[in-house]
Amino acid sequence: MTSPIVQITHCLDFSAAHRLHAPELSPAENRALFGPCNNLHGHNYRVEVSVQGPVDPTTGMVMNLNDLAAIMRAEIWEKVDHRNLDEEVPFLAGVVSTAENLAVAFWKQLDSKLGPAGLHRVRVIESPGNFVDYFGESR
Ligand code: NI
Repeated sequence: MTSPIVQITHCLDFSAAHRLHAPELSPAENRALFGPCNNLHGHNYRVEVSVQGPVDPTTGMVMNLNDLAAIMRAEIWEKVDHRNLDEEVPFLAGVVSTAENLAVAFWKQLDSKLGPAGLHRVRVIESPGNFVDYFGESR
């Protein structure tokens, strides 16, 4: 009998500052494109990380959610909480700190740390009305 494939999710909250600024554009173009988001400001972010895999028939789990929480805390929260995302987070260096780029960067932070269960989705919720999803390169 094959094990059912299930997706499990852990949510992580952090607060950080950033500004949207594309270095290839002029100051006027940045202001026109990003508006007030070109100024330094902060968000209370939520990151939802979903892992997919077979349910282990012995444990009843895809992966221990406490382990996923610990990995997310070490690889994301410890490095971004109460930081300036544009200046204080090495793994975000050189990218515009949009939610899209955060989702891709968080995926890369986690991908090799998860063991046999595979990442399914990284969702970054930037504000109550805006969130982005990344499903990795294969989707
Ligand atoms: Ni913002």
